[in-house]
Amino acid sequence: MAAKPTVAGIISAPPDQPHCHLLAYTEERLDNVMSTHPQPNPAVEQIPQFDLSAQYAAIGAEIRTAVEHVLFTQQFVLGREGTALEEEIATLCGVAYAVGVASGTDALILALRACGVRSGDEVLLPTSTFVATGSAVSALGATPVFADIRPETYNLDPCELERRITPRTRAVIAVHLYGLAADMDPIVAFAKSHKLPLIEDCAQAIGAAYKGRGVGSFGDAACLSFYPTKNLGAYGDAGMAVTNSHELAERLRTLRNHGQTAKYLSSEPGWNSRLDEIQAAILRVKLRHLAEWQRARRSNAAEYTRLFQQVPGVMPPHEPEGCEHVYHQYTIRCERREALQQHLAARKIGSTVYYPYPLHVQPLYAHLGHKAGDFPHAERAAQEVLSLPMYPELRRDQIARVVEAVTEFVRC
Ligand SMILES: Cc1ncc(COP(=O)(O)O)c(C=O)c1O
Repeated sequence: MAAKPTVAGIISAPPDQPHCHLLAYTEERLDNVMSTHPQPNPAVEQIPQFDLSAQYAAIGAEIRTAVEHVLFTQQFVLGREGTALEEEIATLCGVAYAVGVASGTDALILALRACGVRSGDEVLLPTSTFVATGSAVSALGATPVFADIRPETYNLDPCELERRITPRTRAVIAVHLYGLAADMDPIVAFAKSHKLPLIEDCAQAIGAAYKGRGVGSFGDAACLSFYPTKNLGAYGDAGMAVTNSHELAERLRTLRNHGQTAKYLSSEPGWNSRLDEIQAAILRVKLRHLAEWQRARRSNAAEYTRLFQQVPGVMPPHEPEGCEHVYHQYTIRCERREALQQHLAARKIGSTVYYPYPLHVQPLYAHLGHKAGDFPHAERAAQEVLSLPMYPELRRDQIARVVEAVTEFVRC
């Protein structure tokens, strides 16, 4: 019988290859899933974990008009659409400045660089996140220093920061995972008391709020991703960094455009990370609908949670008092997660694991020498979390079918 997928599996790996069991298991698990997977019934409607087709059917005409307009102007990079989008996103986040860039990853790299992070520095961040949060730090030659999460929110445990700070710590990144704000009061207090720049990774949480204030307005800078699957998604890659600091905004504008402070005059090495006009125009159309889509996501989440109240062994997402979750993901916890995922797939219900491997067990960070057990809450979450279908257009009958299938699984 195949071994259960546990992060604990890497404990017994040889010290020079701490991840070999993890990798071996990945292949074994895939084979196992393929061979034991029952054939879905073709008559039953597929419920994907994520679907953009209904959204495009509703707003396609508006999108095509906006794209047509850009084609008509023949201005493709750093034009009016991008500037207008920057103003609109700054307003949405409750900050003074926004700088459009090519992706959320670039927004993180440029924000860290603008905040002074350099090779040899350390940056504190949660280990439960998409790899980009860590690789942005690595891209600058700095070292990510991981922190564990709170098990009920999956976000950075602020108490971990004091434990992990060293004389080389130069910045903190707070990630608002799945669309829920991290506990910002103690994180901001920590960053202030140690005079460290704080960067918010809002890639999954545009429009979320903490104690009545929008995410993106707490840090020295905050980063947004407009990857197509995000709550506000482009039709390709795009991102933005936002800030209240005029100086940081200027620095970000310079860095995204080859370090140019004037035309064809560069004072430092930069990048080409400019947001293009077609993506900006598409995002501006979608922004007009965002509040309505966020309401629909919240309403879908409330319906899931209401139905899950009767289901033992399943932990629905927690929305702490004072937080407004935007449900980029609706993520439950279940001990027999792999089997549940197979059970749902057999009933044509999509689900995804975000994320099966915390950053400290990624082969990318093997050189940091972490071992299983270093971040127990993150490791356990990685084994138990499962994100269910979630998008604004999801219907009540589809939610009921998902909950019914989960209920059937936990009761058998
Ligand atoms: C938490 C988090 N940070 C950063 C990123 C990187 O954003 P992008 O894919 O736009 O580079 C993502 C995107 O998936 C993300 O989810």
